[in-house]
Amino acid sequence: MKILVTYKTKTEFTKWYAEIIAKEVEGELIDFSKVTNEKMSEYDVVVYGGGLHAGRINGFKKAKEMFAKSAAKKMVVFVTGATPNEETETIDEVWKVNLTEEEMESVPHFYMQSGLCYEKMSFPDKTLMKLLANMLSKKENKSNAELGQEQAIKSSYNISDEKYAKPLIEYLLGE
Ligand SMILES: Cc1cc2nc3c(=O)[nH]c(=O)nc-3n(C[C@H](O)[C@H](O)[C@H](O)COP(=O)(O)O)c2cc1C
Repeated sequence: MKILVTYKTKTEFTKWYAEIIAKEVEGELIDFSKVTNEKMSEYDVVVYGGGLHAGRINGFKKAKEMFAKSAAKKMVVFVTGATPNEETETIDEVWKVNLTEEEMESVPHFYMQSGLCYEKMSFPDKTLMKLLANMLSKKENKSNAELGQEQAIKSSYNISDEKYAKPLIEYLLGE
């Protein structure tokens, strides 16, 4: 089974996970910007990874369109985000927003916690995060989730771990 692991990354969290996945499943690792429909057609499985940006999976729409036009048989998606893996309700919501009911069944999907990296963030992204931090700091009667979020976005952190890539790796090795 030929596996392509492709990813879109802004601050390299998704790239880090993509490298681990490609190595473990002996897949080919290619930056999504260099992938074409024709290239996708050379593989049985396309694994697409993207970071969460305001609840949306970066680049996923385009990846789906390209996959649909290719001859590849299966698409698998993984998403990295600052939300910890244990916050299952938030993550379920992410899938509901980003996948159709049909895709929920046909596209195996995996979430991997990452963190925030202000050093590598673009200026517009940094500005957005500052706005969010400001809004949260001014809000009264914050819920526990909002208090946690306020703490979490103050500075860079990395809660990535290889163990979060395991379920996807095991899925691919079992195919
Ligand atoms: C502007 C912005 C918006 C973000 N929105 C979310 C979000 O809605 N949920 C979340 O869990 N993480 C969010 N994050 C954190 C990123 O998803 C996380 O850092 C991700 O791993 C980035 O992946 P990348 O560096 O590979 O692009 C956001 C980060 C930025 C900079």
